[in-house]
Amino acid sequence: MFARAIPPAVFARRRQTLLQRMGPGSIALLPAAASMPRNRDVHYPFRQDSDFYYLTGFPEPEALAVLIPGGDPEFLLFCRERDPHLEIWHGRRAGPEGAMARYGANHAHPMTAIDKVLLPLLENRERVYYAMGYQPEFDRQVLDWINRVRGKARTGVRAPTVFIALEQLLHELRLRKEPEEIAVMRESARIAAEAHCRAMQVCRPGMREYEIDAEIFHTFVRHGAGWAYPSIVAGGDNGCILHYTENNALLQDGDLLLIDAGAELDGYASDITRTFPINGRFSGEQQAIYELVLAAQQAAIAKVKPGCHFNDPHDAAVRTLTEGLTAIGLLPDRAVEDLIKEEQHKQFYMHRTGHWLGMDVHDVGIYKTGEDWRVFEAGMVTTVEPGLYLPAGGQMIDAHWARLGVRLETEIEERWQRIGVRIEDDVLVTAEGNEILSAAALKEVAEIEALMREG
Ligand code: GLY
Ligand code: MN
Ligand code: MN
Repeated sequence: MFARAIPPAVFARRRQTLLQRMGPGSIALLPAAASMPRNRDVHYPFRQDSDFYYLTGFPEPEALAVLIPGGDPEFLLFCRERDPHLEIWHGRRAGPEGAMARYGANHAHPMTAIDKVLLPLLENRERVYYAMGYQPEFDRQVLDWINRVRGKARTGVRAPTVFIALEQLLHELRLRKEPEEIAVMRESARIAAEAHCRAMQVCRPGMREYEIDAEIFHTFVRHGAGWAYPSIVAGGDNGCILHYTENNALLQDGDLLLIDAGAELDGYASDITRTFPINGRFSGEQQAIYELVLAAQQAAIAKVKPGCHFNDPHDAAVRTLTEGLTAIGLLPDRAVEDLIKEEQHKQFYMHRTGHWLGMDVHDVGIYKTGEDWRVFEAGMVTTVEPGLYLPAGGQMIDAHWARLGVRLETEIEERWQRIGVRIEDDVLVTAEGNEILSAAALKEVAEIEALMREG
């Protein structure tokens, strides 16, 4: 997780809020992420579980956090014991002493003591909060504990009877970002913005996509961050593959380069996409598509404010794109309302305009309450990321629409092909409107061309 930026008092405050909302008679169980094997003796770099980290700040695998409202203790942490021999090989461990001294646990025990310590705490407790169905082994473990408590029924012990998905409470907290998190997200976005500008500065025809990927990663790491998701570095037609990750093609003179890359700083993601010409100059068609996507993005960002609902930015982007595509002849010259109703834009814009952003790049938080889209509130962070994708030949899209039984009304003329554009920013809802956290990543045509000229 690289640099640690959130102070311990913030984790303590979050635990208190959650404890209050859980109410008496309940207990919450949160397992740490598992360390994942990659190949013989090599593990994937460890990434802590977001929920667990949000409440503990504890960075190690093989741990379990327990929260008990009104309990003594209220915050219990099970973790790996210190082991001088293993620590020489695999790195330092906090141990139960460190868990109490540095991570605010009222009590901490080695993982080996779980059954002995936890089972009595489950007795006569009515409600158990935990994230069901994400870690099968943990699900089995919880059921085993419950059954063992049930096994003591004849001694008068009552086992929990209510099991509640923890995310109901926890993800509502995570959705509204606190000032300390906003500060980290602002920095995460600033780092990613710097990486995108560096990519524009170093890009030349004849380079490979992975060379640009390396420049981006270099910028992340030199600021104490990592990536939030594998960077998409997609030249030319590859820009029309939404989750392209091969990143090995030659960058060709005359093509665009689409880069979707975000940093992760102390567990907080940024998620930025920029598209620019590999040779530093947009062609007429590239510029027309680019400026249409930019106009759609600006229309969408204007709808990120308190009082608007989550789908307003998408509706605004779709309207701008549909009008623009009609004006340049890529959609038929019919009433825009009809084209929107028929979802004609989906030929060229098949994804949605945004998602919550936070510790997870596609962050937690429900999008609808009942039938209604959620209304934006200050402290929520969403991406705004419209795009247009006009692949070589258009075959990919023809086949897709044929499967859906839709007859395409337009041919993509050759001059519009090999153009994939997405522009993505991270937008914080504020009391007055919004703040674009990723604003330092240049996106006006003239700014991009000037930066690429100056190098
Ligand atoms: N980078 C993934 C996304 O934009 O949603
Ligand atoms: Mn995104
Ligand atoms: Mn993205």
